[in-house]
Amino acid sequence: MTYDLIIIGAGPGGYVCAIRAAQLGKKVAIIEKRSDGAKTRLGGTCLNVGCIPSKALLDTSEKFYEARKHFAEHGIAVTPSIDVAQMLKRKQGVVDALVGGIAGLMRKNKVEVLAGSGELLEPGKVRVTAADGTKAEHEAQHVVLAMGSVPIELPFLKFDDRIVSSDQAISFPGVPKRLLVVGGGVIGLELGSVWSRLGAEVTVVEALPQLCPFLDGDVAKALQKTLEKQGLKFVFEAKVTGAVRQGDEVVLSGTAKDGSPLSWTADRVLVAVGRRPCLDGAGPVPLTDRKRVKIDGSFRTELPGVWAIGDLVDGPMLAHKAEEEGVAVAELIAGQKAHVDHNLIPNVVYTEPEVASIGLSEAACSQRGLAVRVGRFPFLANGRARAAGSTDGFVKIIADAKTDRVLGAAVIGPRAADLISSIAAHMVYGGSSEDIARTCVAHPTVSEAVKEAALDTLGRVLHA
Ligand code: NAI
Repeated sequence: MTYDLIIIGAGPGGYVCAIRAAQLGKKVAIIEKRSDGAKTRLGGTCLNVGCIPSKALLDTSEKFYEARKHFAEHGIAVTPSIDVAQMLKRKQGVVDALVGGIAGLMRKNKVEVLAGSGELLEPGKVRVTAADGTKAEHEAQHVVLAMGSVPIELPFLKFDDRIVSSDQAISFPGVPKRLLVVGGGVIGLELGSVWSRLGAEVTVVEALPQLCPFLDGDVAKALQKTLEKQGLKFVFEAKVTGAVRQGDEVVLSGTAKDGSPLSWTADRVLVAVGRRPCLDGAGPVPLTDRKRVKIDGSFRTELPGVWAIGDLVDGPMLAHKAEEEGVAVAELIAGQKAHVDHNLIPNVVYTEPEVASIGLSEAACSQRGLAVRVGRFPFLANGRARAAGSTDGFVKIIADAKTDRVLGAAVIGPRAADLISSIAAHMVYGGSSEDIARTCVAHPTVSEAVKEAALDTLGRVLHA
């Protein structure tokens, strides 16, 4: 068959690209290999084993933790227990409904779904190998590579039934007694939080001196402190170097910063040290030194008519970044002007409290020699946060010292993921901290903390 556009990979980058291209009148096919045996499962890592199932577990475990730790102060007496099988069933229900929804969107937009593994043979030519080995070749004027990424496996921590990646850590059949997490990044903290709230003893071993290296030190430290209050343990500047299986347990060895030996015993080990691009099927496409697909500023690879987006290319491995890139590529293929501002991709860690950031961190501004004014406002001084009992954290706004343009922001606290979007809306239009400070927001809301942080950059904070 011949198409205007064939997309390999139906994750958030690929399927959104397909919808936008179809809206623009293109004849589109999308290739996906993920299947449950009977049906192709669209939605990629994000929907099937990533963002959505982890959020379902975070929501369940947060309710459980709240019931156990905080209901009493509201005068509510309960003795909760957790039914892990029911929690997993609910999570799968959420995932399945959304995966079915994407299939519906493909039908609605007349996007043809080709089941099997896609492989770029040459520009304009793609092969699909179905699960039963049947091969078919298809042609298209444009091919978009959107195969996403897979968890990194460490050579001394090979995955098995006890040493797992996030793919399995969203489906432990019971609450681990002791969970060792290798890597204090986004996945380690989110899934570490889930099992810790449900009762596991969780230790996170991180190679660097702080959590989530993309965050400013003050934000990362605040996150560390609240997670420690919740019971997570952290070992920084340490390395896991080996593991030995002893029955149902894993004995891990490692080294501390000063070189002294370390040892841990755990019944489950989550390795969350990053992901690598999934290049199976990328064919002859040239790569960068970092083994990502090489593109120009407009997602074009070095092969004519071949584009690449999402986790395959440089930048953070985030579903919403891939979606923006998918839309941009569809519009460029249709002859429109399109651009993604990679400086304005929000980053969110869905711990409790959430942590969200956008634009430049204070450290990045200082590395670039930018003169900035930094405003802060603590949730402790926000009425709505106090009413909800969610007072940990603060809003931080970084503005150019001369022009007052907002260069970056971070929020650790209640609804941080939503609050960062309101700051993003100002930043997209080149907004200043004065613009945020002059925006009337409802009282009482946690949004007032954003306004107050903006006022603080101007030296006019009201409630702190
Ligand atoms: P990550 O890159 O966020 O964090 C990995 C951490 O592991 C880093 O702090 C790194 O210093 C540490 N590390 C690396 N090697 C180590 C070693 N041998 N021993 C100890 N520590 C080591 O990677 P993660 O958490 O696996 O996530 C993968 C990707 O998925 C990320 O790009 C992330 O942004 C994305 N993701 C995003 C989510 C969100 O937006 N909420 C949720 C989950 C994943």
